[in-house]
Amino acid sequence: MTPLLTVDALSKTFRMHHLGQALPAFERLSFTLSRGEFLLLSGPNGAGKSTLLRTLYRSYLPTGGRLIYDSEQGPIDLATAADVDIAHLRRAEIGFVTQFLIARPRVAAEEIVAEPLRLAGTPRETALDAARHWLATFGVKPDLWRAYPTTFSGGEQQKVNLARALIRPRRLLLLDEPTASLDAGARAALVQRLTELKDQGVAMIGVFHHPGDVASLIDREIPLKTKEMADVAE
Ligand SMILES: Nc1ncnc2c1ncn2[C@@H]1O[C@H](COP(=O)(O)OP(=O)(O)OP(=O)(O)O)[C@@H](O)[C@H]1O
Ligand SMILES: [Mg+2]
Repeated sequence: MTPLLTVDALSKTFRMHHLGQALPAFERLSFTLSRGEFLLLSGPNGAGKSTLLRTLYRSYLPTGGRLIYDSEQGPIDLATAADVDIAHLRRAEIGFVTQFLIARPRVAAEEIVAEPLRLAGTPRETALDAARHWLATFGVKPDLWRAYPTTFSGGEQQKVNLARALIRPRRLLLLDEPTASLDAGARAALVQRLTELKDQGVAMIGVFHHPGDVASLIDREIPLKTKEMADVAE
C-alpha cells in the first residue's frame, strides 16, 4: 500500500542574511509514514523538530526535497502545492496541535472547540454537544465552557486547544509538545484519545515533552541532531 506520507531528501535551511550565515535545521531527511503509524521526533532543543512539523504543515517552505502526501484526491507534493490546496488539506485532512491556543476575544471556549465541526457542516447544537464532551474529557470545568479563554490559565488554554484540535478525526496529525503544561489527568485523556485515533488509522508525527506518556503508541523514532551554522556568500 502507498504510504500516507513520503518524505524524500527534505531539507530546510534558514538564511540569516544579517549574519551572512545559513543554519540547516535538517538536511536530506527521508522517511515514510503509513496509515495508523505513530512516529516520535526526538532531539535536543534547537534540533529542528518544530521546524520539521511546520514544514510538513507548509507553514515553512522546504529548501529542497519532496513531500508526497497521499490525499483523498490523490498524491500531492506539499512542498509545491498551491496555497488553496494546502488550505483545503488543513481544513479536511491534516491537523496541527501545538501547546498554544490562539484565543479570540469574546469567543466562548465551547464555540472555539465546536468550530471545526461547524465548518464541516455539523449543526450548531450537535457541534456544541461534542465540544462540551471534549472539554469535559480534557478536564475543563463546566463553569468555564461559556467563558472566554483569553483569561484562562496556560493549562486550561492548552486543554481548549486540544479539544478543538482533536474533535474532528484527521488523516494526519502533527503534534508539537501537546502535553507541555497539562496535569496528569489531561495527559492521560490525551493519550487515550490518541490511542483511539491511531486505532482508526490516523497517522501521527509528534514531539513530546514526556515521551514516556506515549511509549505504547510509538512505532518508530526519528532522532534529529543540532547543526552548525555555516558562512554563505551573499
Ligand atoms: N523562522 C526562523 N528563522 C531562523 N531560524 C529559525 C527559525 N525557526 C527556527 N529557527 C532555528 O532553527 C533551529 C531549529 O529550531 P526548532 O524550533 O525547529 O527546534 P526544536 O527542535 O523544535 O527545539 P525545542 O526543543 O527547543 O522546541 C533553531 O536553531 C532555531 O533558532
Ligand atoms: Mg520545538
